[in-house]
Amino acid sequence: MAEIRAMRGDITRARVDAIVNAANTTLLGGGGVNGAIHRAAGPELLAECRTLGGCPTGEARITRGYALPARYVIHTVGPVWSGGDRNEPELLRSCYFDVLRLASEHAVLSLAFPSISTGAYRYPINQAARIAVDSVREFLQQEGTLERVDFVCFSDRDLAIYEEVLAT
Ligand code: AR6
Repeated sequence: MAEIRAMRGDITRARVDAIVNAANTTLLGGGGVNGAIHRAAGPELLAECRTLGGCPTGEARITRGYALPARYVIHTVGPVWSGGDRNEPELLRSCYFDVLRLASEHAVLSLAFPSISTGAYRYPINQAARIAVDSVREFLQQEGTLERVDFVCFSDRDLAIYEEVLAT
């Protein structure tokens, strides 16, 4: 099975085949990791995103990476946390599975995820990290093409949570 790791860093610098963007339904840029990815990739990324016509929550879309080290960006739209009884866990899980499906279809061998929904969308990170790790493990047990999956955490606190979840 692929190696799953957590690390602290800036996902725009990740040397992997594809990075994941925590986007919004417009796919037309924004703040947080989305803004950082668009700034680092350059204006051609937004131009390609304009052709996609948005993306529903819980799904993913793939583009090229342009000026990024990564060949592809897989954009996904996580749920906004509103207490946990609006299907948030299922939608977050669906983000991870749809990203992994696209990665696998495009022969991606190494993939880096940010912590989807846990910034502006306020998903509690302990719960989100559990869903992230469980979804990736479950997918990798069924499909064998990916060799490496990295969770790129933006703070030491986030990294500590992912490491704890990965240990169980
Ligand atoms: N590398 C890795 N992680 C990062 C980086 C980076 N360069 N920058 C931020 N993070 P957020 P969401 C972390 O808010 O909660 C956007 O405006 C950040 O610390 O980017 O899914 C979109 O346009 C946090 O842990 O995404 C949407 O409107 C994680 O990335 C909305 O926010 C996700 O935080 C999506 O909200």
